[in-house]
Amino acid sequence: MFEIKYKDGAARSGVFEVNGKILETPYLFPVVNPKRQVLELKEIERLGFKGVITNSYIIYRDPGLRERALERGVHALIGFDGVVMTDSGSFQLYHYGSVEVSPSEIVRFQDNINVDIGVILDIPTPPDAGYERAQRELEETVRRAEEAAQLDRNMLLAGTVQGSTYPELRERAASRIARLNFDVHAIGGVVPLMEDYRFAELARVILHAKRGLGHSKPVHLFGAGHPVVFALAALLGCDLFDSAAYALYARDGRYITPGGTFKLEELRELPCSCEVCAEHSVKELRSLEAEEQERLLAKHNLISCLEEIKRVRQAIYEGSLWELVAQRARAHPALLEALRVLRGYSSWLERLEPVTKRSAFFYTGAESLSWPAVVRHIERLSWIERRGDELVFLPEREKPYSRSYRIASSERYHICVVSPVFGVIPLEVEETYPLTQHEGVATLDEEQLSFMRRVVGEYARGFKKVHYHAELEFLGIDGEPFEDVSQFHTGGGEELKLRALADYQLGRGAGEVLFAGARAEYSRRTGRIRRAFVGGELVATIRASDGMVVPTIAGAERLLRLRYPRCRVVVAEEAVEFAKAGKSVFARFVVDCDPEIRAMQEVVVVDESDELLATGTALLSAEEMLELERGIAVKPRHRRR
Ligand code: GUN
Ligand code: ZN
Repeated sequence: MFEIKYKDGAARSGVFEVNGKILETPYLFPVVNPKRQVLELKEIERLGFKGVITNSYIIYRDPGLRERALERGVHALIGFDGVVMTDSGSFQLYHYGSVEVSPSEIVRFQDNINVDIGVILDIPTPPDAGYERAQRELEETVRRAEEAAQLDRNMLLAGTVQGSTYPELRERAASRIARLNFDVHAIGGVVPLMEDYRFAELARVILHAKRGLGHSKPVHLFGAGHPVVFALAALLGCDLFDSAAYALYARDGRYITPGGTFKLEELRELPCSCEVCAEHSVKELRSLEAEEQERLLAKHNLISCLEEIKRVRQAIYEGSLWELVAQRARAHPALLEALRVLRGYSSWLERLEPVTKRSAFFYTGAESLSWPAVVRHIERLSWIERRGDELVFLPEREKPYSRSYRIASSERYHICVVSPVFGVIPLEVEETYPLTQHEGVATLDEEQLSFMRRVVGEYARGFKKVHYHAELEFLGIDGEPFEDVSQFHTGGGEELKLRALADYQLGRGAGEVLFAGARAEYSRRTGRIRRAFVGGELVATIRASDGMVVPTIAGAERLLRLRYPRCRVVVAEEAVEFAKAGKSVFARFVVDCDPEIRAMQEVVVVDESDELLATGTALLSAEEMLELERGIAVKPRHRRR
């Protein structure tokens, strides 16, 4: 029921189908109060919301509401046809210490009132609770989850991960919840973290929960209703949010923007053009009677939240979510702190990061140096087969560098540009994403300097001789300075370039099997390599937009000389005919694959006896295609003749 369409970072944008109704993810559920609803549901629907969340415990506890809900269902009760999710009373449990309903009864009740998505009665343990308490309450939550998972039901059900601020408890709880086959995974107990701006801990909680949960189900982050956190939480893999904040803040006379919140009295301008802000001045809003003011503020707040969710979805689609998170991190130092936490999780994040995107990589500050695109680049530098005894470092120039310098690597000289964003860029791979498509700053900060020194130093190891352009003196490179670049121009090197490209994109040794003895054909318009032939046979094209090596069927046959399961996606017997016919490979038919596969990478599709079926583009990372039950894993390109 959950299908990923686009990815960026650990974020997924896709569709969650609930009883025939479609939610586009990341999705925000407005919280609806069954007793006192500030914004009419018709209004919420008109704004474009296809689902809301309300509280089943409030309904359960009120004899009138309860009777009507049991008689006519929750949709009729609140007057909404879309997806209705309900919470279970955990929030009340957290605030009052107890609730007057049993865990299984409230789950049954949610099902009986025809809720679309119900939630178990988990126990939210607050941040900083003692370890013993966190563990004890977690055990009880997991017990309740197991019990709820056994109940017969028509509705979808969410199981919640608790564990307070203990990473290992979160991770363990998550893997236990993941085994119970819930329809939605929820992360709970984080409202106090959000209220106190403890975003770094929030990030850690999400990351550890996600590690245990896996990728197959949509993940709901409970109570994350303020738009400043949407981009960050989505980046870490949260798909569903709920917001009571739009209404609670309105009640306090507070005006929400994605950059922070203002008291109405503080505002002289309304920095928004939604229907409320277009039709009213600040003065008018302030002079309204309380109820009308609250309603209009709630509407603005909700629109502001919705806009941010749309911005996040757009950013996932175009691949600019890291940059959006960096922008939001400037709204408050606590968010910047959270962005810094991600440095410690770069290998997990790298596994989920697509290898190419629609948008360029923007350097937004020192944090960018630990983003997956950079971490991956540094790792992949070591995948490129070493050629040439002598290393030449050049300062950055206009891209493409080889054109600016009129030079290329050769069998003797391995030529690299020193980059303040990616450290070292060998000319062979300069036209591959994200190396071409990146923008940095001309003046360097300290972090960039030490980053460049480190990467350059490590890269130079093992070369017989190192030459560096005199402009790079400041890096303290151990080698010989020069000023005349032309001395390193020896010509040739097209096979070398192709091999480096393949190694960099497809892993060690890919260049040799794919391109040994290759000859290149150049585009007359751009002067760049367009196609590669081995012995007269076309083995790959090089995509102009991002420099990706796209193997033909002949190329794929060569790649299969790499040891199993390198470069491969293996499909089950029942999907073989479809793959052969050039159809998409669905994730549920993937039985094995190269663990190094990343989303947007070119892959070889084989059957279980390693027979070549087709080639295509992976839309998911390796671990996602192995876990997901829905959606396309490989978009077809060539089929076997
Ligand atoms: N709403 C806010 N936090 C929580 C939580 O931890 N669990 C549930 N079920 N609902 C919540
Ligand atoms: Zn507005």
